[in-house]
Amino acid sequence: MATITSNPSNALAGDVPVPGDKSLSHRALMIGASAVGETEITGLLGAEDVMATLNALRALGIEISQDTDSSGAEPVWRLWGRGVGGLAEPASVLDLGNSGTGARLLMGLLASHPFNAVITGDASLRERPMARITEPLSRMGASFTARDGELLPITVHGSDRLRGADETLAVASAQVKSAILLAGLNTQGETTVIEPNPSRDHTELMLRYFGADVRTQDQPGGARRIRLAGYPELTGAKVIVPGDISSAAFPLVASLLVPGSKVTLRRAGLNPLRAGLLDCLRDMGAAISVSNATDQGGEAIADLTAEHGPLKGITVPAARAPSMIDEYPILAVAAAFADGISHFEGIAELRVKESDRLSAMAEGLAACGVQVVEGADSLTIHGLGGAPKGGAEIAAKLDHRIAMAFLVLGAGAEKPISIDDGATIATSFPEFLDLMNGLGASMEPGEVQL
Ligand code: S3P
Repeated sequence: MATITSNPSNALAGDVPVPGDKSLSHRALMIGASAVGETEITGLLGAEDVMATLNALRALGIEISQDTDSSGAEPVWRLWGRGVGGLAEPASVLDLGNSGTGARLLMGLLASHPFNAVITGDASLRERPMARITEPLSRMGASFTARDGELLPITVHGSDRLRGADETLAVASAQVKSAILLAGLNTQGETTVIEPNPSRDHTELMLRYFGADVRTQDQPGGARRIRLAGYPELTGAKVIVPGDISSAAFPLVASLLVPGSKVTLRRAGLNPLRAGLLDCLRDMGAAISVSNATDQGGEAIADLTAEHGPLKGITVPAARAPSMIDEYPILAVAAAFADGISHFEGIAELRVKESDRLSAMAEGLAACGVQVVEGADSLTIHGLGGAPKGGAEIAAKLDHRIAMAFLVLGAGAEKPISIDDGATIATSFPEFLDLMNGLGASMEPGEVQL
């Protein structure tokens, strides 16, 4: 395992593009594979999670190639979709590595294909709950053989005779919603999903962009109903993937924490259902400005500029969780530097991410000298109103966001922080160290000198 140490940093400065959005990259590949004809994708995230989905689609008979754009600088991916229901039976196990999104969305897609396929993943993914996916897909008519009832490896026994779903989700989960919608593509009739609070709507927007009839309707009490008409005629399209706000979050918060910093992050995706972190940071008093706002395929994009300044503790209500579910680790780091107590409510879902992020943040912050109370589904952080002590070694637990959050903490702490496994960062943000060091941080391979 590759240890990485983050030393206290000088002021961060610069202007950098944000790497492609992971959620949208998975969807561009899977929806492109389900369309007829060529789909051209620029800005695709070149990280392990997305490559795992890409390789799985190749194993399912989709031809995918890579070249560069006319300037020679930007990779362009092309894939030749085989239409709704057009995937071929794979000759090998599909290994989705660390990617929950890849595995879960692919289970949805495969559920409506009349063959068997085995999905597995790394040690983290093999422990993540899958009943939330297999149960609704079983009600549509697919069946599954899973280890211990719901864990990977899972064999998907698909069928091209599924019934359209009519599901009301207990938890707002874009992965569950998307798996059901993708199963609904090769299914006669209508598929309906009701979510308790709106989760990221990338699947709905992209399916519509490729030609599907997808309708959404807000319900009383904050719920949302999504309806998809089966057997849509999806046509290959050009997709430009915006930058990932969940990756931008790390340099963004680092520049709020390290004195004297000012950083601009270009072309970050600002879908309102992903932008909860910005609301929280602004509530904390952060100076963040938005410029050059545009729209691409229904997805909002803008440049973000963040400047160092004092932060104050906040309470984050449970209703905000779906719009920032991946950002709690880095928000917890910001809260450690803030003046006063921060309280995050309704975050039990963090326990079933790439690691148990609630306990990973509580343990890691405590090791860095921050007082934390870990509740069953909440986290209370006693902000120091300045730099934590640091000087700790943190276990990354096969979780890229835990690794990056603590490296950012190290940039602003009094003493260095090391993480035991930097390799996990490549699942979502392979250029993280280069980008951070390019801005002025000091993150390097090797152990912390305590
Ligand atoms: C994702 C949805 C979220 C998020 C994950 C990506 C997606 O998971 O945590 O990183 O692309 O749909 P849940 O749907 O389980 O909340």
